[in-house]
Amino acid sequence: KGDPRLQAISQAIRVVPHFPKPGIMFQDITTLLLDHKAFKDTVDIFVDRYRDMGISVVAGVEARGFMFGPSIALAIGAKFVPLRKPRKLPGEVISEEYVLEYGTDCLEMHVGAVQPGERALVIDDLVATGGTLSAAISLLGAEVVECACVIGLPEVKGGRDRVVFEVGGFPSRLV
Ligand code: PRP
Repeated sequence: KGDPRLQAISQAIRVVPHFPKPGIMFQDITTLLLDHKAFKDTVDIFVDRYRDMGISVVAGVEARGFMFGPSIALAIGAKFVPLRKPRKLPGEVISEEYVLEYGTDCLEMHVGAVQPGERALVIDDLVATGGTLSAAISLLGAEVVECACVIGLPEVKGGRDRVVFEVGGFPSRLV
């Protein structure tokens, strides 16, 4: 909040009405990735916040957490751990199911990617209900220092309670 970079970041995110289905206002971060300054500013804001927090793991949520997480991990000297949709990882995995508006989904992580007691940061592009981030926290089994997203949807209740930091600037508490 009050950071002059935030407005340009927000303007670089394209909102596409009625995608992928009627009534959904899709937040398209591909236009942010096309804008070098806004993309770099987004990563820098996370890096500035997390560089001195003793974080050794950045976990990114498939698919769009993969677009921000690795850059942040490299800059703060942490490893990157992908949290993937089912049946994508070749090694032994642990899985965490979570509830969606209609049905369930699942995230998977390679066994041994994170050691107990490591300090982790979870990155995704967007939080809506927060179900995905909750599953990520359970899956990691590490100390999750924070979850951070580029976008929080203010109209969806509950989700942002699970995020302590958003570039969009709506800090709240991790549950
Ligand atoms: C979107 C978004 C988050 C999640 C947020 O992913 O990128 O991961 O939904 O929703 P929630 O807070 O209600 O859990 P999506 O399910 O569209 O998957 P994709 O990135 O693989 O397309």
